[in-house]
Amino acid sequence: MHDPNRPHRNTLFVEDAQILAQDSYPGKQYVLRVQAPRCAAHAQPGSFAHLQCSPELLMRRPLSIMGTDPDAGWVEFLYKDVGTGTHALAARKPGETISMIGPIGIPFTPDRARPRTLLIGGGVGIPPMLFLADRLRTDRHWQPFVLMGSEVPFPFHAQPSRFMVPGVPAEVIAAMPLLEDRGVPSRLSSRQGYPGCFDGYITDLARHWLDAMDDAARRQVSIFACGPHPMLAATARLAEEYRLPCQVSLEEYMACAVGGCAGCTVHINTPNGPAMKRVCVDGPVFDARTVNWSQ
Ligand SMILES: Cc1cc2nc3c(=O)[nH]c(=O)nc-3n(C[C@H](O)[C@H](O)[C@H](O)COP(=O)(O)OP(=O)(O)OC[C@H]3O[C@@H](n4cnc5c(N)ncnc54)[C@H](O)[C@@H]3O)c2cc1C
Ligand code: FES
Repeated sequence: MHDPNRPHRNTLFVEDAQILAQDSYPGKQYVLRVQAPRCAAHAQPGSFAHLQCSPELLMRRPLSIMGTDPDAGWVEFLYKDVGTGTHALAARKPGETISMIGPIGIPFTPDRARPRTLLIGGGVGIPPMLFLADRLRTDRHWQPFVLMGSEVPFPFHAQPSRFMVPGVPAEVIAAMPLLEDRGVPSRLSSRQGYPGCFDGYITDLARHWLDAMDDAARRQVSIFACGPHPMLAATARLAEEYRLPCQVSLEEYMACAVGGCAGCTVHINTPNGPAMKRVCVDGPVFDARTVNWSQ
């Protein structure tokens, strides 16, 4: 049973993960696949791993898990080269090994009473949404719909969707091929004028979808989101306005990532009043209503 005081008992592993593939995409984005069988076996959507990007860098860097194959034993990440650590990671080659701690963190917990799951991923917040969509699609009970937003080119070639989604403007057809192949409807948004994408904020596209539903259908909706802080705050406001439950995955600077240093705390409202919670082990997934969005 889950013990909140020892959240990672017997489920957190240190592995020397061999790089199987590292592919680069426009916008200094990379998809990294590593062999890490124990992490692959235990990771849940929302989990992340703490990676030693290069042997010279002592501080590890946290990355969300985008997907796993527990049988083959691999784990996949999507990351953007934004600084020293991720730049060093981008230079690593297949065949090399990376020390990796994972899976870490409290994952997303979908509610079976709300099978219409709206997954919202922005920028490098896309990976956990893909992982969640992939898990949900294996059980026909769930009806995942994925919205992805990016202001740099998407790390895949968008294709016109074969799924009609009520409420989505007719010209908004761009979808993610991987999700199309897996039978999950998706749509893309950007303010960069990419063809077929919704021209605006991802939350406005979500609003189109929600407004097309009747009350009974909307009562079956729950929202899951990961992305930049302003996008998460806007998603939380949207959820509040439509009275929908919403889980968000937060990002904070991390040192240890295993609950020991309190370097990643955020203000969370609890039944006992405001409290400092560690994003690494008390999160990264939190109920959006409990997050103090002004921090
Ligand atoms: C739980 C979690 C999951 C994450 N998942 C992903 C992912 O899937 N893909 C991905 O590309 N990135 C992800 N990140 C962010 C990633 O960890 C940082 O981009 C990375 O640590 C930056 O390290 P760096 O040395 O390359 O850059 P630095 O030189 O440390 O920083 C470069 C820039 O990034 C900013 N930055 C660094 N860390 C963070 C952070 N935690 N939050 C906000 N801004 C930051 C800095 O302010 C600076 O502007 C995640 C972070 C967390 C906490
Ligand atoms: S990073 Fe050390 S407690 Fe979270």
